[in-house]
Amino acid sequence: MDALIKSLVQIAGETGVLTAAADLDAFVTDCRGSYKGDAKCLVRPRSTEEVAAVVALCTVHSVPIQPQGGNTGLTGASVPYPGEGSVILCVLADVQRAAIEAGRYYPVSLGAEGSCQIGGNIATNAGGTGVLRYGNTRENVLGLEVVLPDATIWHGLRGLRKNNTGFDLKHLFIGSEGLLGIITAATLKLHPLNTHNISTWLAPAGIDAAVELLGVFQAELGPQLSAFETMNGPQLQMVLKFMSNPPSPLDPNLPWHILAEFNCASNEAGLRNSVEQILQTAFSRGLVTDAVIAASEAQRTSMWDLRHNVTDAIKAAGRGISHDIAVPVSKIPEFLRRITPALEQRFAGVQIIIVGHLGDGNLHFVPVFTNAAWAAFPDPDAVIDEVHQLTYGVVNELGGTFSAEHGIGRYLLGEMRQYKSETELSLMRSIKHTLDPKGLFNPGKVIPQALN
Ligand code: LAC
Ligand code: ZN
Repeated sequence: MDALIKSLVQIAGETGVLTAAADLDAFVTDCRGSYKGDAKCLVRPRSTEEVAAVVALCTVHSVPIQPQGGNTGLTGASVPYPGEGSVILCVLADVQRAAIEAGRYYPVSLGAEGSCQIGGNIATNAGGTGVLRYGNTRENVLGLEVVLPDATIWHGLRGLRKNNTGFDLKHLFIGSEGLLGIITAATLKLHPLNTHNISTWLAPAGIDAAVELLGVFQAELGPQLSAFETMNGPQLQMVLKFMSNPPSPLDPNLPWHILAEFNCASNEAGLRNSVEQILQTAFSRGLVTDAVIAASEAQRTSMWDLRHNVTDAIKAAGRGISHDIAVPVSKIPEFLRRITPALEQRFAGVQIIIVGHLGDGNLHFVPVFTNAAWAAFPDPDAVIDEVHQLTYGVVNELGGTFSAEHGIGRYLLGEMRQYKSETELSLMRSIKHTLDPKGLFNPGKVIPQALN
């Protein structure tokens, strides 16, 4: 046995180290099947001290470390490149259930929540469907414990709401995608459990009307509005087909759909009444053309099932070029008015699929080609590149971002170079170099190499 593997087994035990290619397969391939790498082995340490010992060992041998949680990321940040000889360091912890067992609520909620892990959520500053009310992961972390690239452990597990004692170091690690340290524990902000949830599926008259309606709900109901999710008609049709045609809340041929949710801890009847009245006014003003309020928990769950199946539905439908963009909410209609005809004129037959968190100004904008159309392109990479350039060009002009919640990984390295300023990139490089001078933590991700 390789000396390194032998030492790793001494640290993490026989069952804590996997080396067979068949065992590693799921850990070296990303969840969308876009990236496949390889690794020396996978280690599952049982404690923070074991993580630190693994890091110390890898550093001595100059072996790259690929941190991994649930491996549900969408930008290839959690799988190694082929041939780099990484050790995958897998840290697992499940939070939502523990919060509920304690009678509290951890509000970061996303499609992958059955399999993603809190360390990965923190390392990517995951967003999801609860950001409108509760903020993204960054806003729900109070403290962290991190194993640094020099194998020291930073004990930062404080639960304070106020602590102005110099740089707030936890924010350096939140969203760092495994480049600066391994997150081994966290103190999280928990919220009261919402005992009443009212969900409505509605069809706005158009995207401008949807944005206006969002403003009305926010003004009238404030934080009781916890989600304002959208998808266009083609996205809903795709999900229904993928799920073998369950009943649709509304006519799937309608151009836009909104899933809005409201929560309260008491006076459910009062909240329901307010939602109904706002909807009635919206009908009479022509903002909404149809709407249904979930009449049971089962109906509510089936609405969210439609929402959470989008990624798999797109994957099954053909070749989608995904974008995770955000612009100021008020600019969403302009973004769509500019980019949709530009792409449809350039690529005949492209289907524009849109799903996203309209309340956050964050859309997953996915031009989809059939597999046959894709196979006919002489240079598919050039198509991807052109679609990205057109889309991110408009986003950039509107003051938006090319990565709202999925992070950078390896998917958006080119965009980092194109749209981040040299000041930002060189600051990131300095921080990376200070913490990880050998460059062993998740190499080749997030920060593009300096050109000189
Ligand atoms: C979603 C994931 C893709 O919103 O972010 O469904
Ligand atoms: Zn999303």
